[in-house]
Formats: sequence, C-alpha cells, structure tokens
Amino acid sequence: MTRLILIFASYFAYGWSPSSWRHLKSSQIPNYKSEIVKNIVQEKLAQKTPLVISEEIDALTQELERVGNGDKFLLMGGDCAETFREHSTDNIILNYQLFILSTIMLMKNTGLNVVKIARMAGQFSKPRSENMEIIEGNVIHSYKGDMINREDPKKRDPDPRLMLKAYEQSAQTMNLLRALSNSNFSNINLDSWITSLHLSNIQPVIEDLQNQFKILKACGIEREKTLNSAVLYTGHEGLLLPYEEAFTRVDRYSGLHYDCSSHFQWIGERTRDLDEAHVEFFRGVNNPIGIKISDKIEPSEFLSLLDVLNPANKMGRITVITRMGKKIERALPELIDTVEEHGKKVVWVCDPMHGNGAVLNGRKTRYFNDILQEVESFFQIHKEKGTVPGGIHLEMTGKYVTECTGGSFSTYKTDYDNFETSCDPRLNMYQTIELIEKVSKLI
Ligand code: PEP
Ligand code: CO
Repeated sequence: MTRLILIFASYFAYGWSPSSWRHLKSSQIPNYKSEIVKNIVQEKLAQKTPLVISEEIDALTQELERVGNGDKFLLMGGDCAETFREHSTDNIILNYQLFILSTIMLMKNTGLNVVKIARMAGQFSKPRSENMEIIEGNVIHSYKGDMINREDPKKRDPDPRLMLKAYEQSAQTMNLLRALSNSNFSNINLDSWITSLHLSNIQPVIEDLQNQFKILKACGIEREKTLNSAVLYTGHEGLLLPYEEAFTRVDRYSGLHYDCSSHFQWIGERTRDLDEAHVEFFRGVNNPIGIKISDKIEPSEFLSLLDVLNPANKMGRITVITRMGKKIERALPELIDTVEEHGKKVVWVCDPMHGNGAVLNGRKTRYFNDILQEVESFFQIHKEKGTVPGGIHLEMTGKYVTECTGGSFSTYKTDYDNFETSCDPRLNMYQTIELIEKVSKLI
C-alpha cells in the first residue's frame, strides 16, 4: 500500500512514469511497422526476470560516488555494438579476462580500487546520424544494432522481436559473467592467456600478483570472498526506450523505479536533447546515468541537463563521458569551470574513441596515438583545474581484431584481416593493455 502511494506521489509530483517519454520526440527510436507486434513484445519483456536488481544498482551508485571523490577509478569498456554473430562463450571469457588484466594493471600502478562497467549484456542498439542509407541504388534503413535491425541489407526493417533475442543473449552473457566474477583468477586461466599473448612487459605484473597470492595462501586467507570475486557491472546506451521501459521495475521496498536491463545506462551524444524522449525517461529511474558529451554542447544546456537529471545534485548519479577528440583542449576546461562554478557533482570520464574517427584504406579506423593523446589531455586538464579525472570509457575487445591502427604491440598489417566489428573500430587486447598501462601512469 505504502509502495502504491509512493508511486502515485512520484507521478503527480514529477509528471513522470515509465511511459511518459512516449509522446516526446526521438529521431533514434524506430517506427515499427506493427504497433501491435511491438506491444506484444513489450508485454513479454515486462514478464521476464530482470537482468540486474536494485540493490546492485544502488551499490554501483555508491561506488561511483567514490570515483567522483577520487577514491576509486572507473574503467568502462566493451564492443561498440554487441552482435548475435559474435556471441560465444570464448568471447565473453576473453572480454572478462581483458577487464581483469586491465584492472590488475591499474590497481598495481595506482593503488586505487577499480570499478568496472562492461558494455555487455545489453549494448545492442546504436544511434545513427542518418536514418536511411543508399545501398546498390536502394534506399534502406541504416543498420542500428542487432536489437533493432540486421546488418544484412535485406533485413534492415526494424523488427521488435529482435528485442526478445537480445534479452535472451544478455541473460546468457550475464549468467556467465556472474559465474566468472565468483571464480578465482586461476579458474579462468589468466596465466596461459597472458603467456599466449607474449606480453613481456605485463609478465612481471602477473608474477608479482601470483607471489602476492602465495603469501595470502600461506596466511590461509586466499579463499576470502573479496579476494576471489571481481564485481563486473554492466552498462549500455539506453537508446531503445521500449526495451528500457519494459525492464523498469518498482523496487518492492522503496517504491522507486529502477531500469533493470543493466546497472548503468547512458544517454548518447545524439539523444541528449532536453525536450526529447531519452532525457524524460532517464530523469525518472534511479540508476546511475551517463551523458555522452561532445564539444558541441553549450554550458547552459549542460547545466540544464544536470538539473533535470540530478535535481538532488548527488555525486554518483551522473557520469559525464566526454568524447571530444582534438577539441578537448578548448571544450573541456569550459565545461569543468561551469560545473565548478555551480557546485555541481559529476563523475568525469574520458571516452577517447568517439571523437577520433578516421578512415584508412576505405575502412573506419581510429589511430592509437589520437586515442592516447585525448586521454593525456583529459588528465592534464583535470590536473590544472584541480578536479578528479574519474575514469576512461573504451571500445575494446579481448579478441585479436585489426580495427584500430597503431600501438607498439601491434604486429598486424593494415589490410584489416580481422576487421569484425559491426559498428565502430575497437582496440584489440594488445592495444587495450598498452593504453591501460600508459593511463595507469597518468593517474
Ligand atoms: C557509443 O558509445 O558507441 C556512441 C555511439 O557514443 P556517442 O553517443 O558518444 O557517439
Ligand atoms: Co561506438
């Protein structure tokens, strides 16, 4: 009863409900051919068990609060877009291992605990600058991620049933991630993976770690839960609101709404308009929320976004993910000043991928040095301003792909033998580890 009263009170106070976004504009949400099929799918999704629960979501908010205060560091990463094609046990394990290895490197070099958010178990829908494209003379929908339509030019009509498929895959991914998170490092063969990578400059780090584990074992505390578990949170762009709405559940104790499709969702650079659907939806859920920001944002617009999405101005609720490319030098200081002058509480994170697109041999790529340079500027600017550079957000994979260009481990040619992404180019495991090692020295 109290819960019902709280829900009604929140609706009347804020005019918000899980579906209040529906009458607002969003050019990124597809118009499905059949509203009936979409509604049936949404009803089915609303009956599914949640992928995460409110306690875990609150735990992440608290962790992010500590990131914002400089006590922890945030690593976000994963595919630009998960696909049905790339889904496999091996892939999930490789991505998990990449997270663990990156975390170990960061912790060893900084002494900071690392909060990890994987772009996994839900990162299936993509914003596109153009809704339509021309292929072989035909005007077709742009590919918008496997949850919306398919890469195959013959299957580009948005199909709501794909949301069910994406949920099934996310549930499988989540299941394995949770199991991995509770096993110790030897169970996932981190050792042999590292050996197979020939990462000679990583080897000492691992040996160090193994020696430390030996000491713990000798002391009889190696089975301590905190030593053997590695919490991996999940996050994705909350683009497809019919899906997010279906997973928005009311916490049985507090009566608050949580989007239980993942722990963290972000609003993209193309969906952050103040009077549009995404801002309306996310202002009402209690998850920690990311906002992707390029140099195009005006300080006043930025402030209004923070007011609408975080009226209580709580640290941990908003993570600002800047993706500015070379324009970071000009644009970031102004944003930091705005936040500081108005006493706003945000976690600052650098996404050095999305402002550094390039084309090489007709293929989309990103240069390792451009990525590194943006991260370096991010740390430098925060140092000058006396603010906290909270973390980084990467497009990365544990697989040996050849999508981004450069990095000194890179043995690959630029012929894109392993160009596998369905969307933006990812750092492969060598490039990720090299970047992480360099980042850990900047913190
Ligand atoms: C992304 O993170 O894959 C993405 C599309 O980001 P942005 O909204 O910053 O372009
Ligand atoms: Co991307």
